[in-house]
Amino acid sequence: MIATVLAGRDGDLGVIQTFLDEASAGGAALLLTGEPGVGKTALLDAAQERAMAAGARVLRAAGAQFEADVGFSGLNQVLLPLGTELAGLNAAQREALKVAQGLTAGPPSDRLVVSNAALALLRRAAAARPLLVILDDLPWLDRVSSLVLAFAACRLGGSRVGFLAAARTGAGTLFDAGGLPEHEVRPLDGAARRPGSSGARAGPADYPAPRPGRAGEPRERARGTGY
Ligand SMILES: Nc1ncnc2c1ncn2[C@@H]1O[C@H](COP(=O)(O)OP(=O)(O)O)[C@@H](O)[C@H]1O
Ligand SMILES: [Mg+2]
Repeated sequence: MIATVLAGRDGDLGVIQTFLDEASAGGAALLLTGEPGVGKTALLDAAQERAMAAGARVLRAAGAQFEADVGFSGLNQVLLPLGTELAGLNAAQREALKVAQGLTAGPPSDRLVVSNAALALLRRAAAARPLLVILDDLPWLDRVSSLVLAFAACRLGGSRVGFLAAARTGAGTLFDAGGLPEHEVRPLDGAARRPGSSGARAGPADYPAPRPGRAGEPRERARGTGY
């Protein structure tokens, strides 16, 4: 696999690598914040690539506006691939998660039960190899999933689970309410923005040049001027 090179992001990638190392050694969480278009998703992509190259399993979900009101839709996105591990939980936890995710009918469990069950499931999934949970666009995640996942993110000590999330600046997510570590992704400076400039191996094919006067084009957005 050829690793993607992100121009101008050596510092941010260093922070992410330290986080990945900590997470796979003993559990860790990190929230990336920054303006829309600044490059958070690109950093999540890079983190995913690095984690997978190091042998970790990656579960990735993204908040979406159309699902923000659908309770547990985010949790469902994250946990759906863990069917095998789900079967290994005790019956009460298994049922709580299946009902919460809409996989089976039944009386809903208390949120604390669901939260503990989700935590147990993630820890179990990380038993064989490190697990990285990536949550993009956190503010759009439905509220109850955010609560459950933030609960888990605060209790990763001694596991090999990493939580890496991204949210726009000022969104006030439940992850920063929980006091989890944050890293602010800043707009790229001029040198790093120019494709082909020193240290930047990304070329025009990777990042199309902005059309004059069109805010929101990829490269405009990368330097944070579009918003
Ligand atoms: N380091 C970079 N150099 C050049 N372009 C980048 C860089 N990082 C991101 N981009 C481009 O900028 C645009 C916005 O980045 P994205 O990661 O989606 O921002 P965010 O998730 O913060 O909204 C995308 O088209 C992306 O390819
Ligand atoms: Mg994004």
